[in-house]
Amino acid sequence: MTTSSEHRVRVGVIGAGRIGQVHALNLAFRVEGVELGAIFDPDRAAAERCAARCRGAQVVDDERRLIEDRSLDAVAICSPTGHHADQIERCAGAGKAIFCEKPIDLRLERIDQALATARRAGVTLMIGFNRRFDPGFKRARQMVVEGRIGTPQLVRITSRDPAPPPPEYVRGSGGLFLDMTIHDFDMARWIVGTEVEQVHALGANLVDPAIGEAGDIDTAIIALRYHGGALGAIDNSRRAVYGYDQRLEVFGSEGCAVVGNVPPTTAVLSRAEGVTADLPLHFFVERYEAAYLAEMQEFIDCLRHDRAPSVTGEEARVPVLMALAAERSRREGRPCRVESPA
Ligand SMILES: NC(=O)c1ccc[n+]([C@@H]2O[C@H](COP(=O)([O-])OP(=O)(O)OC[C@H]3O[C@@H](n4cnc5c(N)ncnc54)[C@H](O)[C@@H]3O)[C@@H](O)[C@H]2O)c1
Repeated sequence: MTTSSEHRVRVGVIGAGRIGQVHALNLAFRVEGVELGAIFDPDRAAAERCAARCRGAQVVDDERRLIEDRSLDAVAICSPTGHHADQIERCAGAGKAIFCEKPIDLRLERIDQALATARRAGVTLMIGFNRRFDPGFKRARQMVVEGRIGTPQLVRITSRDPAPPPPEYVRGSGGLFLDMTIHDFDMARWIVGTEVEQVHALGANLVDPAIGEAGDIDTAIIALRYHGGALGAIDNSRRAVYGYDQRLEVFGSEGCAVVGNVPPTTAVLSRAEGVTADLPLHFFVERYEAAYLAEMQEFIDCLRHDRAPSVTGEEARVPVLMALAAERSRREGRPCRVESPA
């Protein structure tokens, strides 16, 4: 799609759950050059709640009506992961530009089919790897690009949720690596601009037995070996009692870039018994508020100025390959190469 920079892009949102509401609110009130045109969710009450927060955006009852609405230029797909590939294909068929939440699908073949359909249709497709737009991580990336830390040698990523999701969510999520670590896999390669060639993953069920019964793990460590020899380590937990723990370190021959947790305020209380400060911002909606806004602004700017977005479908495919290799590694108890199946 090519629109003139004067044109206000009209976007429909599909799926009005946790992340759908974040994007709908940004589209309604904060992103420049855009109008929130319509919201669809098969749970009409969810769509209506979201629309009410967005000062009465139009709610539609039928996904097809939204996708085929000729007044809309683009669609933000925020439904559960199992619907993304089908909805990408339907949006591409209707000539809509697409913003889609991660991951595109849990199966590589479906990802490749959906990407091929979008490519053939010639529509813009951007995937929601929001952490690339976080001001702290962006600054660290810039330090690496400018050579300020020299040659990267070690990358450490800590990513721990404040509380585990319900077991019904876990069952449909594709597992920890595809659902949660996928952000860290994307961060690991993006922050140094080098691909990972091998992963060695260990997993455990230490937080919630229901997650184990649903066939998943809730605690993991993944060792990474990059092309060129640098090493990395990601650690994950589904429950950190002190809140959302999101930290990153890139260590190199000339220095180290560190990004810490973000508290709601910087106030610190010092008393005889010790020093206390705010806990980290509680979860992703708060922690990545600025990142969600910046990524949606990039999507809209790309449409208005006819530019390609930085997080393409092909970019978003690689973390899925890494997650699949990590799962293979965990099950087989050995390091595995990150590669497309032959
Ligand atoms: N980038 C991020 O930081 C981030 C954060 C959370 C979730 N996500 C991704 O976003 C997607 C949604 O996650 P969530 O946490 O918002 O889930 P959620 O369960 O809170 O919301 C999903 C919504 O989609 C609706 N829905 C179900 N089937 C649908 C369909 N066929 N079409 C449209 N809507 C449908 C549900 O009724 C629900 O309202 C997942 O793919 C998840 O991986 C990304």
